[in-house]
Amino acid sequence: MKPSKTSRALILGARSEIAQALAHQLASEGVGLVLGARRCQSLQPVADDLRLRHQVDVDLLEFDALDLDAHASLADRVRDLAGPWELVVCVVGTLPDPVRSRSSSQEAAVALMTNFTGVSVCLGQLANDLEKRQEGGIICLTSVAGDRGRQSNYVYGAAKGGLNVFLQGLRNRLVSAKVHVMTVKPGFVDTPMTRGMPGLFLVAAPEAVARDIVGAWHKGRNVLYTPWFWRWILFIIRWIPEPIFKRMSL
Ligand SMILES: NC(=O)c1ccc[n+]([C@@H]2O[C@H](COP(=O)([O-])OP(=O)(O)OC[C@H]3O[C@@H](n4cnc5c(N)ncnc54)[C@H](OP(=O)(O)O)[C@@H]3O)[C@@H](O)[C@H]2O)c1
Repeated sequence: MKPSKTSRALILGARSEIAQALAHQLASEGVGLVLGARRCQSLQPVADDLRLRHQVDVDLLEFDALDLDAHASLADRVRDLAGPWELVVCVVGTLPDPVRSRSSSQEAAVALMTNFTGVSVCLGQLANDLEKRQEGGIICLTSVAGDRGRQSNYVYGAAKGGLNVFLQGLRNRLVSAKVHVMTVKPGFVDTPMTRGMPGLFLVAAPEAVARDIVGAWHKGRNVLYTPWFWRWILFIIRWIPEPIFKRMSL
């Protein structure tokens, strides 16, 4: 199923560099934007730059994924602010410190709540609105970390893995309403989330990932590994037998 034409997209987690690369990519195709983020006023220069470069409407919206009660009214608030919208791009995520998240309930809970509960509750509410209108779509960034639990980041991986299953179910539910859901599983991307971390390899630029995402969206892809080679890396990782895998230091 190819997604219908988008006139306006809501980007959640818009302070991320991947989100901003996506914003430029979409705006260059004439798509108006609502940038949703915590402390959204800090995005004013980004909004000005997008308007200037691409001559599209850009609005800012305060958004906190952990404010679960606010999600039910999000679709209407976007409409009140900016008019009709058809696409939501969710880039929200947080990478907990793997060692601290063993001892700190707070560190683990915020990661699980943000990456899984907050994002899925929010997208579930927005999906209801799209389903009613029988148009549009959802793009959501999860991670290759969600494909198999590893000692180095299983709290983050568990939340992203849960989100993968949630999106799979949503895609299955919404196909009859002509609403397309695309799951995006990035590998390592050069952003503040990972910058300076040891052991990174095959690190992609946010702009390359954004181009990949928008291209795959136009083709109606369901699940995108980006860059493409992560599909095959994860294919191998998923197939390593558990008795061997549990002894590996990954
Ligand atoms: N970088 C990588 O290597 C990599 C790899 C795989 C997947 N990903 C995924 O790609 C997405 C973008 O990540 P990134 O690399 O650009 O990292 P990032 O710069 O840390 O961006 C994550 C964004 O999520 C927002 N966020 C966190 N908690 C939030 C909340 N409660 N409410 C609203 N927004 C919240 C942050 O907002 P604030 O600015 O307010 O903190 C930030 O803008 C994430 O979903 C991440 O898990 C990244």
